[in-house]
Amino acid sequence: MDQNLAGDLAELPALLDAVRESATELLTGLAARPVARPAKEGGPEPLPEQGSGLRAALALFRERWEPQFSASAGPRYFGFVTGGATPAAVAGDWLTATLDQNAMSGEDSSAAELERRTVEWIGQLFGLTGHTGAFVSGATMSNFVGLAMAREWLGEQLGVSVAQAGVGALGPVPVLSGTPHSSIVKSLSMLGIGRDSLKYVPTRPGREAVDVRRLAEALDALDGHPAIVVANAGTVNTVDFDDLRAIAALRQRYPFWLHVDGAFGAFAALDPEHAELVDGLAEADSVCVDLHKWLNVPYDAAVQFSKHRELQLRVFLNSAAYLSAPTGTPDFGHLVPENSRRLRALPAWFSLTAYGRDGHRDIVRRNIACANRLGELLTADGLLRLAAPVRLNVVCFTLADRPTPERIAALTASIAGSGETFVTPTVYEGMPALRAAFSNWRTTADDVDRAAAAITAAARALG
Ligand SMILES: Cc1ncc(COP(=O)(O)O)c(C=O)c1O
Repeated sequence: MDQNLAGDLAELPALLDAVRESATELLTGLAARPVARPAKEGGPEPLPEQGSGLRAALALFRERWEPQFSASAGPRYFGFVTGGATPAAVAGDWLTATLDQNAMSGEDSSAAELERRTVEWIGQLFGLTGHTGAFVSGATMSNFVGLAMAREWLGEQLGVSVAQAGVGALGPVPVLSGTPHSSIVKSLSMLGIGRDSLKYVPTRPGREAVDVRRLAEALDALDGHPAIVVANAGTVNTVDFDDLRAIAALRQRYPFWLHVDGAFGAFAALDPEHAELVDGLAEADSVCVDLHKWLNVPYDAAVQFSKHRELQLRVFLNSAAYLSAPTGTPDFGHLVPENSRRLRALPAWFSLTAYGRDGHRDIVRRNIACANRLGELLTADGLLRLAAPVRLNVVCFTLADRPTPERIAALTASIAGSGETFVTPTVYEGMPALRAAFSNWRTTADDVDRAAAAITAAARALG
């Protein structure tokens, strides 16, 4: 055995203690850490030919890299839609690596069974009890799997198996959506359906939610040709919601597969005051729910839900003599793109076991309250204004005076440079703007006040 490996094995308990101490220091110091650290580009570094052992590697990481990492897991990081990781989720993630199970099949371990139970719990959070599901790496992959099944279904309507004959055997694939996330467009490219197949359906006036009447017209114009409809439950800029029930009802008149991207918006289901936003979610053929956003588990975790297991099997079947046959309850390797799979469910299992539906509902409700508070504070002195009402957990705002791309870029950089908070730029209805997204379990009203002060100061300094 390599000397360093042998040394680490002999010293394992003490080394793990050292790693735990580092993690403790990081986790307890998160709130005090500068929130953003824009990356400095460095040159290549020589590959270590002889290693130096875990203790030295840990010391080097803490000196060389860790100080340059952001506090994205902390309470005042509002960029993108970035969840943190609950204590139980961190523990689950540590043990995922420790046990290093392959959650592909049940031949040697109950890891896949734990994943099935966890998927059922997550389904119950969102009222998706008629669906089956599997863990994937993120919402992009969840959308990809949903659209892959949609493609197969569409082929079936036309008498073609895309899984067998390839996408070339399929004619045009009409995909209709109001304000889809960019990962939908990327998935269409990856699936050979093509980005140009997406037809943007007009949205309701001043909204990102699709105009259902215009959607019906677009379906009508297809003259009976099957289509894919992507409904959005929580748009990334303004967290607008399509009317899922009304869209689902259109299936009585038109043949289409309904995929819902509820990456983070689906969590509205946890809050009785906002649950109606996702009314009708269970009607969807496939649903995307991201967990590394609002469930507060570490990257990479999302679930894809489907009502069409047979079709899913057709697409993702991984047939080999040395692997299980897809009979009974099929192994996950037959249902998703990956064959060998990390046990991504364990952090979610830990967090749901530790905090339950109530604990996670509390996170969602507090985050929504924080978003509303930030919206009020930012607009108090007239320097900034909301670009859209705060509907759930995102504040989309802009400069009241001259919101040019240059001024918004300068404001973004200045906020990041403050170390107090981090928000990301966007363009909403052609207007440069900023978004502050709340999805971290740690965020308090005090954090909101500190962030508001930093953002307002940066806006004031801009003049
Ligand atoms: C609505 C929506 N869908 C999909 C995604 C893609 O998520 P991921 O980065 O986990 O792939 C996001 C990310 O913000 C999102 O907001």
